[in-house]
Amino acid sequence: FHVEWDLVQAEKGGYDSFMQKEIYEQPQAVRDTVSARIDEANKRVVLPELNMSDEELAAYDRIYIVACGTSMHAGLVGKEVIEKWTRVPVEVAVASEFRYRDPIYTDKTLMIVISQSGETADTLAALREAKKSGVKVLAITNVVGSSVAREADDVIFTWAGPEVAVASTKAYTSQVVALYLFALYFAQVKGTLAAAEIANVVEHLQQLPAKISTILENDEQIRRFAESIKDATSLFFIGRGLDYAVSLEGSLKLKEISYIHSEAYAAGELKHGTLALIEDNVPVVALATQPDIYEKMVSNIVEVKARGARVLGFAIEGDRELAKTVDDVIHIPTTLPMLTPILTVIPLQLLAYYASVARGLDVDKPRNLAKSVTVE
Ligand code: G6P
Repeated sequence: FHVEWDLVQAEKGGYDSFMQKEIYEQPQAVRDTVSARIDEANKRVVLPELNMSDEELAAYDRIYIVACGTSMHAGLVGKEVIEKWTRVPVEVAVASEFRYRDPIYTDKTLMIVISQSGETADTLAALREAKKSGVKVLAITNVVGSSVAREADDVIFTWAGPEVAVASTKAYTSQVVALYLFALYFAQVKGTLAAAEIANVVEHLQQLPAKISTILENDEQIRRFAESIKDATSLFFIGRGLDYAVSLEGSLKLKEISYIHSEAYAAGELKHGTLALIEDNVPVVALATQPDIYEKMVSNIVEVKARGARVLGFAIEGDRELAKTVDDVIHIPTTLPMLTPILTVIPLQLLAYYASVARGLDVDKPRNLAKSVTVE
């Protein structure tokens, strides 16, 4: 019975590729990951799966998030939300670096490892090193029974379902959502967010699946842009704050499956080097979804436009300003600025996907890459 279920899951179900199918499964993956963790009556987060007590959790005053690839990028979003909602400092590190470092642990340090597969060698090694030092490890993983799930002290599962395509999509959005849930729960036990604020975020989290669907139903514009860059030799993603974190993921996705060179840059850092690479017709994807740094972002867009860049801007629905500066705009449905990454990443995944298709490549199995890197 189990084998049959796996086979059904593994079918492409009418889609051209697993990646396309998994991109379109994101409303469900996000819904499933969120729904079991909400106390509807009180609009609060519940994490009954945690072994640690609320007192124990509340005492942590420093967090390391350790992961590889796309999971590490989810961690970058997690850092921003945990710090914002709990004021606890978070450091994000790639596992292959972290495991050979000499990290500063105290008895109030928590490690969070993030791994879709739960089998990535470097992530697992970092987890084991931390445990050896007496540090508690919370895992966010998609695979029940995986090594990471078995060895961590605590686990929050993402309910994304099996992810087959090498390039991770629904696992990323589910990981980010799991991090929002953890951050909210952490804020609840620490008392750093008012009940009304928590309820407001919870409601917005619950609205995300419908908003993802809206983006997926309107993918024509991003498909056209993807086709327009299919022969580009290089592309830049720029953003600030959470938009920068998402830019890194957008750039990785494009590199992985389209083999087009791209870089993600913190927009304010452009003038310290990368601006030299911007010339006539270089495509730039500029994310401007964060209200508190919007004006700064627009100045950076003006800088690349002045050097001849062809800019695709990302703005929040209702924004009529950005269109005046950029060549084309993708509008993202409105949500809380902290939750925008879940929505912004969707067109970026589609960009990578359609660019790969336009170049006639194997979307699901990019050259030189593996789904699960179990060797060092
Ligand atoms: C490989 C995959 C990536 C993934 C990374 C980490 O490189 O190709 O898509 O992000 O491993 O995998 P994990 O299973 O630990 O999340």
